[in-house]
Amino acid sequence: MNILVTGGAGFIGSHTLIELYAAGHTAVVIDNLSNSNPVALKRVAEIIGIKNIPFYKVDIRDREGLEKVFEEHQFDACIHFAGLKAVGESVEKPWEYYDNNIGGTLTLLDVMRKHGCKNIIFSSSATVYGDPAEIPITENCPKGQCTNPYGWTKSMLEQVLMDMQKADPEWNVVLLRYFNPVGAHPSGRIGENPNGIPNNLMPYITQVAVGKRKELGVFGNDYDTPDGTGVRDYIHVVDLADAHVCALKALERKCGLGIFNVGTGHGYSVLDMVKVFIRVNRVDVPYSIKPRRAGDIATCYCNPSKAESELGWKAKYGIEEMVRDSWNWQRQNPEGYNEE
Ligand code: NAD
Ligand code: UD1
Repeated sequence: MNILVTGGAGFIGSHTLIELYAAGHTAVVIDNLSNSNPVALKRVAEIIGIKNIPFYKVDIRDREGLEKVFEEHQFDACIHFAGLKAVGESVEKPWEYYDNNIGGTLTLLDVMRKHGCKNIIFSSSATVYGDPAEIPITENCPKGQCTNPYGWTKSMLEQVLMDMQKADPEWNVVLLRYFNPVGAHPSGRIGENPNGIPNNLMPYITQVAVGKRKELGVFGNDYDTPDGTGVRDYIHVVDLADAHVCALKALERKCGLGIFNVGTGHGYSVLDMVKVFIRVNRVDVPYSIKPRRAGDIATCYCNPSKAESELGWKAKYGIEEMVRDSWNWQRQNPEGYNEE
Protein backbone atom coordinates (compact mmCIF):
# COMPACT_ATOMS: atom_id res chain seq x y z
CA MET A 1 0.00 0.00 0.00
CA ASN A 2 1.06 3.61 -0.45
CA ILE A 3 0.61 5.33 2.90
CA LEU A 4 0.37 8.98 3.89
CA VAL A 5 2.17 9.29 7.22
CA THR A 6 1.36 12.54 9.01
CA GLY A 7 3.85 13.45 11.74
CA GLY A 8 6.26 10.92 10.22
CA ALA A 9 9.39 12.78 11.36
CA GLY A 10 8.39 12.31 15.02
CA PHE A 11 9.29 9.60 17.51
CA ILE A 12 6.66 6.98 16.69
CA GLY A 13 6.25 7.98 13.04
CA SER A 14 9.94 7.58 12.22
CA HIS A 15 10.02 4.07 13.71
CA THR A 16 6.81 3.13 11.91
CA LEU A 17 8.28 4.11 8.52
CA ILE A 18 10.94 1.43 8.93
CA GLU A 19 8.37 -1.29 9.67
CA LEU A 20 6.17 -0.11 6.78
CA TYR A 21 8.97 -0.46 4.24
CA ALA A 22 10.06 -3.79 5.77
CA ALA A 23 6.51 -5.05 5.14
CA GLY A 24 6.65 -3.94 1.49
CA HIS A 25 4.68 -0.68 1.76
CA THR A 26 5.75 2.76 0.57
CA ALA A 27 5.15 6.07 2.35
CA VAL A 28 4.95 9.81 1.90
CA VAL A 29 5.54 11.92 5.00
CA ILE A 30 4.00 15.25 5.86
CA ASP A 31 5.18 17.05 8.97
CA ASN A 32 5.43 20.72 9.97
CA LEU A 33 8.58 19.86 12.00
CA SER A 34 7.15 21.67 15.05
CA ASN A 35 8.45 18.87 17.28
CA SER A 36 10.90 17.01 15.07
CA ASN A 37 14.03 17.18 13.01
CA PRO A 38 14.45 16.20 9.32
CA VAL A 39 17.65 14.35 10.28
CA ALA A 40 15.34 11.62 11.59
CA LEU A 41 13.99 11.04 8.07
CA LYS A 42 17.50 10.96 6.64
CA ARG A 43 18.46 8.27 9.11
CA VAL A 44 15.26 6.32 8.48
CA ALA A 45 16.11 6.25 4.76
CA GLU A 46 19.64 5.01 5.63
CA ILE A 47 18.23 2.19 7.77
CA ILE A 48 15.72 1.17 5.09
CA GLY A 49 18.40 1.45 2.39
CA ILE A 50 16.64 3.93 0.09
CA LYS A 51 17.80 7.36 -1.14
CA ASN A 52 15.16 9.33 0.72
CA ILE A 53 11.66 9.22 2.12
CA PRO A 54 9.28 11.45 0.12
CA PHE A 55 8.66 14.39 2.46
CA TYR A 56 6.53 17.55 2.43
CA LYS A 57 6.90 20.22 5.10
CA VAL A 58 3.17 20.78 5.40
CA ASP A 59 0.95 21.61 8.34
CA ILE A 60 -2.21 19.49 8.56
CA ARG A 61 -4.20 22.71 9.06
CA ASP A 62 -3.00 23.93 5.64
CA ARG A 63 -5.75 22.76 3.27
CA GLU A 64 -3.97 23.95 0.11
CA GLY A 65 -0.75 22.26 1.13
CA LEU A 66 -2.60 19.00 1.77
CA GLU A 67 -4.48 19.26 -1.53
CA LYS A 68 -1.18 19.54 -3.37
CA VAL A 69 0.17 16.38 -1.75
CA PHE A 70 -3.03 14.46 -2.59
CA GLU A 71 -2.88 15.71 -6.19
CA GLU A 72 0.66 14.39 -6.54
CA HIS A 73 0.09 11.01 -4.89
CA GLN A 74 -2.52 8.30 -4.71
CA PHE A 75 -2.90 7.01 -1.14
CA ASP A 76 -4.42 3.74 0.02
CA ALA A 77 -4.45 4.82 3.67
CA CYS A 78 -3.28 7.43 6.14
CA ILE A 79 -1.48 6.80 9.42
CA HIS A 80 -2.16 9.94 11.39
CA PHE A 81 0.49 10.72 14.02
CA ALA A 82 0.64 14.51 13.63
CA GLY A 83 -0.35 16.29 16.81
CA LEU A 84 0.90 18.14 19.84
CA LYS A 85 1.36 15.89 22.86
CA ALA A 86 2.76 17.78 25.87
CA VAL A 87 0.23 17.42 28.66
CA GLY A 88 1.39 20.40 30.77
CA GLU A 89 1.63 22.69 27.75
CA SER A 90 -1.91 21.75 26.74
CA VAL A 91 -3.18 23.04 30.09
CA GLU A 92 -1.41 26.38 29.45
CA LYS A 93 -2.41 26.62 25.78
CA PRO A 94 -5.72 24.81 25.29
CA TRP A 95 -6.69 26.73 22.14
CA GLU A 96 -3.44 25.84 20.43
CA TYR A 97 -4.03 22.16 21.22
CA TYR A 98 -7.64 22.13 20.02
CA ASP A 99 -6.67 24.09 16.90
CA ASN A 100 -3.68 21.92 16.02
CA ASN A 101 -5.02 18.49 16.93
CA ILE A 102 -8.72 18.84 16.26
CA GLY A 103 -8.71 21.61 13.63
CA GLY A 104 -5.83 19.91 11.81
CA THR A 105 -7.46 16.48 11.86
CA LEU A 106 -10.80 17.85 10.57
CA THR A 107 -9.01 19.46 7.63
CA LEU A 108 -7.04 16.28 6.94
CA LEU A 109 -10.19 14.12 7.00
CA ASP A 110 -12.01 16.46 4.63
CA VAL A 111 -9.15 16.43 2.12
CA MET A 112 -8.84 12.64 2.43
CA ARG A 113 -12.52 12.00 1.63
CA LYS A 114 -12.48 14.46 -1.25
CA HIS A 115 -9.68 12.42 -2.77
CA GLY A 116 -11.38 9.09 -2.07
CA CYS A 117 -8.97 7.97 0.64
CA LYS A 118 -11.16 6.67 3.47
CA ASN A 119 -8.78 4.44 5.40
CA ILE A 120 -7.15 5.81 8.53
CA ILE A 121 -5.17 4.65 11.56
CA PHE A 122 -5.34 7.20 14.35
CA SER A 123 -2.83 7.60 17.22
CA SER A 124 -4.98 7.57 20.30
CA SER A 125 -3.86 7.12 23.87
CA ALA A 126 -4.59 5.29 27.11
CA THR A 127 -5.31 8.77 28.43
CA VAL A 128 -8.88 8.44 27.01
CA TYR A 129 -9.68 6.00 29.86
CA GLY A 130 -9.06 8.76 32.43
CA ASP A 131 -8.71 7.14 35.86
CA PRO A 132 -9.57 3.68 34.52
CA ALA A 133 -12.66 1.94 35.85
CA GLU A 134 -10.93 -1.46 35.63
CA ILE A 135 -7.41 -2.88 35.58
CA PRO A 136 -6.21 -4.41 33.32
CA ILE A 137 -7.98 -2.08 30.92
CA THR A 138 -9.92 -3.71 28.08
CA GLU A 139 -11.40 -1.79 25.15
CA ASN A 140 -14.82 -2.24 26.79
CA CYS A 141 -13.71 -0.14 29.75
CA PRO A 142 -15.71 3.11 29.58
CA LYS A 143 -13.83 6.22 28.51
CA GLY A 144 -13.22 8.58 31.41
CA GLN A 145 -12.78 12.21 32.31
CA CYS A 146 -9.50 13.45 30.86
CA THR A 147 -7.42 15.65 33.15
CA ASN A 148 -6.06 17.93 30.42
CA PRO A 149 -6.86 19.38 26.95
CA TYR A 150 -4.36 17.05 25.24
CA GLY A 151 -6.33 14.05 26.49
CA TRP A 152 -9.61 15.63 25.42
CA THR A 153 -8.29 16.13 21.87
CA LYS A 154 -7.69 12.37 21.66
CA SER A 155 -11.04 11.50 23.18
CA MET A 156 -12.95 13.95 20.96
CA LEU A 157 -11.13 12.91 17.79
CA GLU A 158 -12.00 9.28 18.50
CA GLN A 159 -15.65 10.38 18.60
CA VAL A 160 -15.33 12.36 15.36
CA LEU A 161 -13.83 9.34 13.60
CA MET A 162 -16.43 6.94 14.97
CA ASP A 163 -19.28 9.23 13.90
CA MET A 164 -17.84 9.66 10.41
CA GLN A 165 -17.38 5.91 9.98
CA LYS A 166 -20.95 5.30 11.14
CA ALA A 167 -22.36 7.86 8.71
CA ASP A 168 -20.29 6.61 5.78
CA PRO A 169 -19.35 2.90 6.00
CA GLU A 170 -16.86 3.35 3.18
CA TRP A 171 -14.55 4.60 5.92
CA ASN A 172 -12.31 2.11 7.69
CA VAL A 173 -11.02 3.52 10.96
CA VAL A 174 -8.57 1.93 13.39
CA LEU A 175 -8.09 3.70 16.70
CA LEU A 176 -4.88 2.55 18.38
CA ARG A 177 -4.75 3.43 22.06
CA TYR A 178 -1.05 3.53 22.86
CA PHE A 179 0.07 2.89 26.41
CA ASN A 180 3.58 4.20 27.26
CA PRO A 181 5.92 4.07 24.25
CA VAL A 182 9.65 3.85 25.09
CA GLY A 183 12.80 2.38 23.55
CA ALA A 184 14.33 3.12 20.18
CA HIS A 185 15.39 1.39 16.99
CA PRO A 186 18.09 -1.17 17.96
CA SER A 187 20.58 0.58 15.66
CA GLY A 188 20.54 3.60 17.99
CA ARG A 189 20.24 5.86 14.93
CA ILE A 190 16.72 7.09 15.70
CA GLY A 191 14.91 7.59 18.99
CA GLU A 192 12.93 9.98 21.16
CA ASN A 193 14.23 13.55 20.96
CA PRO A 194 12.26 15.73 23.38
CA ASN A 195 12.57 19.50 23.30
CA GLY A 196 13.72 20.99 26.61
CA ILE A 197 13.02 19.22 29.89
CA PRO A 198 11.44 15.81 29.23
CA ASN A 199 7.94 15.33 30.62
CA ASN A 200 7.99 11.56 30.35
CA LEU A 201 9.83 9.09 32.52
CA MET A 202 12.12 7.26 30.09
CA PRO A 203 13.72 10.27 28.36
CA TYR A 204 14.24 11.82 31.79
CA ILE A 205 16.02 8.66 33.01
CA THR A 206 18.27 8.54 29.93
CA GLN A 207 19.17 12.24 30.26
CA VAL A 208 20.14 11.70 33.91
CA ALA A 209 22.18 8.64 32.93
CA VAL A 210 24.05 10.57 30.22
CA GLY A 211 24.79 13.41 32.65
CA LYS A 212 22.52 16.08 31.15
CA ARG A 213 20.37 16.22 34.30
CA LYS A 214 21.37 15.78 37.92
CA GLU A 215 18.76 13.40 39.22
CA LEU A 216 15.37 11.93 38.45
CA GLY A 217 12.44 13.17 40.53
CA VAL A 218 10.13 10.26 41.33
CA PHE A 219 6.65 11.76 41.46
CA GLY A 220 5.15 10.24 44.59
CA ASN A 221 5.81 7.03 46.53
CA ASP A 222 2.51 6.84 48.37
CA TYR A 223 0.26 5.43 45.64
CA ASP A 224 -1.67 2.24 46.22
CA THR A 225 0.85 0.16 44.26
CA PRO A 226 3.39 -2.51 45.38
CA ASP A 227 6.21 0.03 45.97
CA GLY A 228 4.10 3.21 46.16
CA THR A 229 5.25 4.60 42.78
CA GLY A 230 3.11 4.86 39.64
CA VAL A 231 2.64 1.71 37.55
CA ARG A 232 2.47 1.87 33.73
CA ASP A 233 2.39 -0.38 30.68
CA TYR A 234 5.60 0.46 28.81
CA ILE A 235 5.77 -0.67 25.21
CA HIS A 236 8.80 -0.83 22.91
CA VAL A 237 8.37 1.65 20.07
CA VAL A 238 9.36 -0.99 17.49
CA ASP A 239 6.50 -3.20 18.71
CA LEU A 240 4.20 -0.20 18.56
CA ALA A 241 5.35 0.53 15.00
CA ASP A 242 4.59 -3.08 14.08
CA ALA A 243 1.02 -2.68 15.42
CA HIS A 244 0.43 -0.14 12.62
CA VAL A 245 1.52 -2.65 9.98
CA CYS A 246 -0.97 -5.16 11.45
CA ALA A 247 -3.68 -2.48 11.54
CA LEU A 248 -3.13 -1.81 7.81
CA LYS A 249 -4.12 -5.42 7.14
CA ALA A 250 -7.37 -4.74 9.02
CA LEU A 251 -8.01 -1.73 6.77
CA GLU A 252 -7.38 -3.92 3.73
CA ARG A 253 -9.97 -6.38 5.06
CA LYS A 254 -12.40 -3.42 5.29
CA CYS A 255 -12.74 -3.67 9.04
CA GLY A 256 -15.12 -0.74 9.49
CA LEU A 257 -14.32 0.52 12.98
CA GLY A 258 -11.64 -1.13 15.11
CA ILE A 259 -10.46 0.00 18.55
CA PHE A 260 -7.37 -1.57 20.10
CA ASN A 261 -5.18 -1.19 23.15
CA VAL A 262 -1.51 -1.30 22.27
CA GLY A 263 0.52 -2.32 25.29
CA THR A 264 2.26 -5.39 26.70
CA GLY A 265 -0.25 -6.06 29.47
CA HIS A 266 2.48 -5.81 32.13
CA GLY A 267 2.69 -3.00 34.67
CA TYR A 268 6.02 -1.68 35.92
CA SER A 269 6.54 0.93 38.64
CA VAL A 270 8.81 3.96 38.36
CA LEU A 271 11.32 2.28 40.68
CA ASP A 272 11.14 -0.97 38.67
CA MET A 273 12.09 1.02 35.57
CA VAL A 274 14.99 2.76 37.32
CA LYS A 275 16.33 -0.49 38.77
CA VAL A 276 16.09 -2.45 35.50
CA PHE A 277 17.74 0.45 33.64
CA ILE A 278 20.67 0.50 36.09
CA ARG A 279 21.10 -3.30 36.06
CA VAL A 280 20.88 -3.80 32.28
CA ASN A 281 22.91 -0.76 31.26
CA ARG A 282 25.36 -0.68 34.18
CA VAL A 283 25.00 3.05 34.55
CA ASP A 284 23.84 5.01 37.58
CA VAL A 285 20.55 6.93 37.75
CA PRO A 286 20.41 9.05 40.93
CA TYR A 287 16.86 9.81 42.03
CA SER A 288 14.89 11.36 44.86
CA ILE A 289 11.25 11.16 45.87
CA LYS A 290 9.20 14.24 44.99
CA PRO A 291 5.52 15.11 45.54
CA ARG A 292 2.90 13.57 43.27
CA ARG A 293 2.42 15.19 39.84
CA ALA A 294 -1.01 16.73 39.33
CA GLY A 295 -3.29 14.61 37.15
CA ASP A 296 -1.30 11.36 37.58
CA ILE A 297 -3.05 8.09 38.31
CA ALA A 298 -1.69 5.16 40.35
CA THR A 299 -1.94 2.29 37.90
CA CYS A 300 -2.50 1.95 34.17
CA TYR A 301 -1.94 -1.22 32.19
CA CYS A 302 -3.98 -2.98 29.59
CA ASN A 303 -5.28 -6.29 28.47
CA PRO A 304 -3.87 -6.42 24.90
CA SER A 305 -5.61 -9.67 23.87
CA LYS A 306 -8.04 -8.03 21.43
CA ALA A 307 -5.13 -6.78 19.30
CA GLU A 308 -3.71 -10.30 19.32
CA SER A 309 -6.93 -12.07 18.33
CA GLU A 310 -8.16 -9.51 15.77
CA LEU A 311 -4.97 -7.92 14.41
CA GLY A 312 -2.54 -10.77 14.98
CA TRP A 313 -0.32 -8.36 16.87
CA LYS A 314 1.53 -9.04 20.11
CA ALA A 315 4.47 -7.24 21.73
CA LYS A 316 7.75 -9.11 21.22
CA TYR A 317 10.05 -6.99 23.36
CA GLY A 318 10.23 -6.88 27.14
CA ILE A 319 11.38 -4.35 29.65
CA GLU A 320 15.08 -5.21 29.28
CA GLU A 321 15.09 -4.50 25.54
CA MET A 322 13.20 -1.27 26.20
CA VAL A 323 15.77 0.11 28.65
CA ARG A 324 18.67 -1.21 26.55
CA ASP A 325 17.51 0.46 23.35
CA SER A 326 16.52 3.73 25.05
CA TRP A 327 20.02 3.94 26.48
CA ASN A 328 21.71 2.86 23.24
CA TRP A 329 20.02 5.78 21.44
CA GLN A 330 20.77 8.36 24.16
CA ARG A 331 24.38 7.22 24.62
CA GLN A 332 25.11 7.52 20.89
CA ASN A 333 23.21 10.81 20.57
CA PRO A 334 23.60 12.77 23.80
CA GLU A 335 22.23 15.88 22.07
CA GLY A 336 19.60 14.00 20.08
CA TYR A 337 19.43 15.03 16.42
CA ASN A 338 20.80 18.48 17.22
CA GLU A 339 24.35 17.30 16.63
CA GLU A 340 23.90 16.85 12.90
P1 NAD B 1 6.14 13.52 18.19
O1 NAD B 1 5.92 14.90 18.69
O2 NAD B 1 7.51 12.96 18.21
O3 NAD B 1 5.56 13.38 16.71
C1 NAD B 1 4.45 14.11 16.26
C2 NAD B 1 4.85 14.77 14.96
O4 NAD B 1 3.75 15.55 14.46
C3 NAD B 1 6.03 15.73 15.10
O5 NAD B 1 7.00 15.41 14.14
C4 NAD B 1 5.43 17.12 14.84
O6 NAD B 1 6.35 17.99 14.23
C5 NAD B 1 4.26 16.77 13.95
N1 NAD B 1 3.14 17.74 13.98
C6 NAD B 1 2.53 18.27 15.08
N2 NAD B 1 1.56 19.11 14.69
C7 NAD B 1 1.53 19.10 13.33
C8 NAD B 1 0.76 19.77 12.34
N3 NAD B 1 -0.19 20.63 12.70
N4 NAD B 1 1.01 19.52 11.06
C9 NAD B 1 1.99 18.65 10.67
N5 NAD B 1 2.76 18.01 11.56
C10 NAD B 1 2.54 18.22 12.87
O7 NAD B 1 5.15 12.55 19.02
P2 NAD B 1 5.07 10.98 19.04
O8 NAD B 1 5.48 10.53 20.39
O9 NAD B 1 5.72 10.39 17.85
O10 NAD B 1 3.50 10.80 18.95
C11 NAD B 1 2.82 10.55 17.73
C12 NAD B 1 1.33 10.53 17.99
O11 NAD B 1 1.03 9.55 18.97
C13 NAD B 1 0.79 11.85 18.54
O12 NAD B 1 -0.48 12.08 17.98
C14 NAD B 1 0.67 11.58 20.03
O13 NAD B 1 -0.32 12.37 20.64
C15 NAD B 1 0.30 10.11 20.04
N6 NAD B 1 0.65 9.44 21.30
C16 NAD B 1 1.93 9.51 21.73
C17 NAD B 1 2.27 8.90 22.95
C18 NAD B 1 3.68 9.00 23.48
O14 NAD B 1 3.88 8.75 24.66
N7 NAD B 1 4.69 9.30 22.69
C19 NAD B 1 1.29 8.22 23.68
C20 NAD B 1 0.00 8.17 23.18
C21 NAD B 1 -0.31 8.77 21.97
C1 UD1 C 1 1.74 10.83 30.29
C2 UD1 C 1 0.52 11.69 30.12
C3 UD1 C 1 -0.46 11.00 29.18
C4 UD1 C 1 0.23 10.65 27.86
C5 UD1 C 1 1.45 9.77 28.19
C6 UD1 C 1 2.21 9.37 26.98
C7 UD1 C 1 0.29 12.98 32.23
C8 UD1 C 1 -0.54 13.21 33.44
N1 UD1 C 1 -0.11 11.95 31.40
O1 UD1 C 1 1.36 9.61 30.85
O2 UD1 C 1 -1.57 11.85 28.92
O3 UD1 C 1 -0.65 9.95 27.01
O4 UD1 C 1 2.32 10.52 29.04
O5 UD1 C 1 2.85 10.49 26.39
O6 UD1 C 1 1.28 13.64 32.00
N2 UD1 C 1 7.41 10.04 36.40
C9 UD1 C 1 8.31 10.36 37.39
N3 UD1 C 1 9.24 11.31 37.12
C10 UD1 C 1 9.35 11.94 35.91
C11 UD1 C 1 8.42 11.58 34.89
C12 UD1 C 1 7.46 10.63 35.18
O7 UD1 C 1 8.25 9.82 38.50
O8 UD1 C 1 10.22 12.79 35.73
C13 UD1 C 1 6.40 9.00 36.68
C14 UD1 C 1 4.96 9.45 36.55
O9 UD1 C 1 4.48 9.98 37.76
C15 UD1 C 1 4.26 8.14 36.13
C16 UD1 C 1 5.33 7.40 35.32
O10 UD1 C 1 6.58 7.98 35.71
O11 UD1 C 1 3.95 7.38 37.27
C17 UD1 C 1 5.16 7.55 33.82
O12 UD1 C 1 5.07 8.94 33.51
P1 UD1 C 1 5.02 9.49 32.00
O13 UD1 C 1 6.16 8.90 31.24
O14 UD1 C 1 4.92 10.97 32.06
O15 UD1 C 1 3.69 8.85 31.40
P2 UD1 C 1 2.18 8.91 31.96
O16 UD1 C 1 2.06 9.71 33.19
O17 UD1 C 1 1.68 7.52 32.01
